[in-house]
Amino acid sequence: MFYVFSSPAAIAEHLSQQLLEHIRNKPDSILGLATGSTMEPVYAALLKQPALQDTDLSRLTTYNLDEYIGLPASHPQSYNYYMHHHLFDTLGLKAEQTHLPNGLCSDCNSECSDYSAAIAEAGGLDFQLLGVGSNGHIGFNEPGTPFDSRTHVVKLSETTRIDNGRFFDSMDEVPTHAITLGIQDILDAKEIVLVATGEHKAETMNLLYRTPADPQMPATALKLHPNVRIYLDPAAASRLPQEALYHVE
Ligand code: GLP
Repeated sequence: MFYVFSSPAAIAEHLSQQLLEHIRNKPDSILGLATGSTMEPVYAALLKQPALQDTDLSRLTTYNLDEYIGLPASHPQSYNYYMHHHLFDTLGLKAEQTHLPNGLCSDCNSECSDYSAAIAEAGGLDFQLLGVGSNGHIGFNEPGTPFDSRTHVVKLSETTRIDNGRFFDSMDEVPTHAITLGIQDILDAKEIVLVATGEHKAETMNLLYRTPADPQMPATALKLHPNVRIYLDPAAASRLPQEALYHVE
């Protein structure tokens, strides 16, 4: 389950090749995408893959994991803005190919049920990319979220608001709520790769390794899925026992 690479750049290179191969083998792939600083090198490496030039992206569909409530798509900290800036605009995907929850929803409950339904109707996620929060959240599924949850509105925990506050000018500007794919939506994906890099994720990975599937540690839901890989750099893997690790050359 835990794969260790020499550096975040090595993860980005491997994972971007894997994603591209996935798209080339199945041009109508439905990808579940993630945001956060961990994903930035992955998307940057994907855009540099030489094979991207002759890859047909016209039938690709993407669904993002989550979005803050209250930030317009033009806000630099919205996940909509992030995705356009780091990936979509350079890939040249059409608006109808990419999907994020609408953080300016007036009827957010309908927005949530429509989002899960749209993914299911499209045929389900082929490949889900995940980061992880320091409290073990995946998407914005905070500790205590039931494993059978679908897309829903979340009140962000103070830990998450403080973690993500580094991207905002002041804590007052950090949204209090978000929309996230549910844990069941994530587990419905055919294949999942979670990436964690840096010393600040080491204890989270240690807890993930040692905790059986438990809603208080949302990432442990992945232990219920048959096709999950967790990509770590040496810093994030530093508190795991050697026998738990597969080292990738
Ligand atoms: C946010 C996102 C998560 C992401 C997490 C980690 O809370 N909702 O999807 O995994 O941040 O972010 P980073 O990669 O910046 O550590």
